Amino acid sequence: MTNGKIPAVRLGDDGPEVGVQGLGCMGMSFGYGPTDADEARATLERALELGVTLYDTADAYGAGENERFLAPFVKAHRDDVVIATKFALAIPPDDPTRRIIRNDAPYIRQAVEASLERLDVDVIDLYYMHRRDVNVPIEETVGVMAELVREGKVKHLGLSEVTATELRAAQAVHPIAALQSEWSLFSRDIEARVVPAARELGVTLVPYSPLGRGFLTGSFSNAETDLTSGDFRRQQPRFTGENAAANAALLEPVRTVAESHGVSPGQVALAWVQQQTAVHGLPVVPIPGTRKVSRIEENTAATKVELTEKDLALLEPIAAQVAGDRYPDMRFASAGRE
Ligand SMILES: NC(=O)c1ccc[n+]([C@@H]2O[C@H](COP(=O)([O-])OP(=O)(O)OC[C@H]3O[C@@H](n4cnc5c(N)ncnc54)[C@H](OP(=O)(O)O)[C@@H]3O)[C@@H](O)[C@H]2O)c1
Repeated sequence: MTNGKIPAVRLGDDGPEVGVQGLGCMGMSFGYGPTDADEARATLERALELGVTLYDTADAYGAGENERFLAPFVKAHRDDVVIATKFALAIPPDDPTRRIIRNDAPYIRQAVEASLERLDVDVIDLYYMHRRDVNVPIEETVGVMAELVREGKVKHLGLSEVTATELRAAQAVHPIAALQSEWSLFSRDIEARVVPAARELGVTLVPYSPLGRGFLTGSFSNAETDLTSGDFRRQQPRFTGENAAANAALLEPVRTVAESHGVSPGQVALAWVQQQTAVHGLPVVPIPGTRKVSRIEENTAATKVELTEKDLALLEPIAAQVAGDRYPDMRFASAGRE
C-alpha cells in the first residue's frame, strides 16, 4: 500500500484505473442473510479510504435493492468511485421468485434505464452482461452494449461467466474492459481456456467469490447448520452434507500457510487470487464481498501478503479435490458450456 492505500491497476487496455482489490456489495442487500445497513455503509466509506474504488453490484441483487442502497454513497463520491452493475437476470412477470436469463436488445435497453435510475447516476462506469443467454448471439448483445457506450449511458463494458470463444467474439465487436468470473482456491476451471484468452485480448480478470463465498475464511463449515434460512449458500452443493465436511478438511493447508505468515486464512485466499497476476501474466482485481469494517481492513491488507513458491505448492492440490459443483446447474457458469 502507498499512503495506506492499496495500489491501482487499469481495467482492460483503456478502462479506468481502480484499486487492485474491489468490493463486492451483493451481500449488503441480498443472498447472505440479514445485514446491518449502518455497518455496511461504514464499510463502503472505509473501503474508499483504503483505496478500494471498484464497487460491484447488479440489478438482480435484491431486485434493484442493492443498486438503490449504493446510490447515496456513489453520489457522495462520484468522481472517486467506479460503479459496476450488471443486466441479464430478469424477473418473469408470472413469478417474481424466479430469474430468467435475457440478453436481447429490448431487455438490455430497459435494464440500463432502470439501473441508471436506481443508482441515480448519468452514466454507469462499467456495465456487465451478468449471464449468457445462448439463444442470442453474443455479437448481437455486445452490439447493443456498444450502442449504450456511444449514447453515453455506459463508459466501459464487461462480461461475466463467458467462455473463451464467447469472449473472443465479444471483443471483436467492442473492447471488453473486464471479465468477471468465479476464481479462488476452490474454483479454478477458468484457468484452462478463459484466463489465457483474457490475457491475449487485454481483458482484466475480476474474480468474484475469491473467498469461496466465505467458506475459505473458515467462518462457516456447513451452510445448513451454520447459516440463516434465507442464505442462498444453503442451496450450493459444496457447502452442504458430506461435501461440506470433505471441503472443510481441505482448508488445512490454507491454515498452515496463514499461520506461517501470521495472517488469516481469508487473507491467504485473497493473496493467492491476487498473485495469479504474476502466474498468468494479466491484471487481476478480485472483488471480495463484505459488510463489515473490520473485514474490509483485513481483506485489503491481504494485498501486502506475498506467498512463496512453497506456499503456492502447498495450496496447489486443493481445487482438484473440492467436492461438488460451484452451482446446482453448471450451465450457469462458463465451464458448463465449454
Ligand atoms: N458475476 C457473478 O455471477 C457473481 C456471482 C457472485 C458474486 N458476485 C460478486 O462478487 C462479490 C463477492 O463474491 P461473494 O460475496 O459471493 O463471495 P466472497 O467474496 O468469496 O465471500 C463473501 C463472504 O465472505 C464473508 N467475508 C468477507 N470477508 C471476510 C473475512 N475477512 N473473514 C470472514 N468472512 C469474510 C462475507 O461475510 P460479511 O459480508 O458478513 O463480511 C461473505 O459472507 C459479490 O459481492 C458480488 O458483487 C458476482
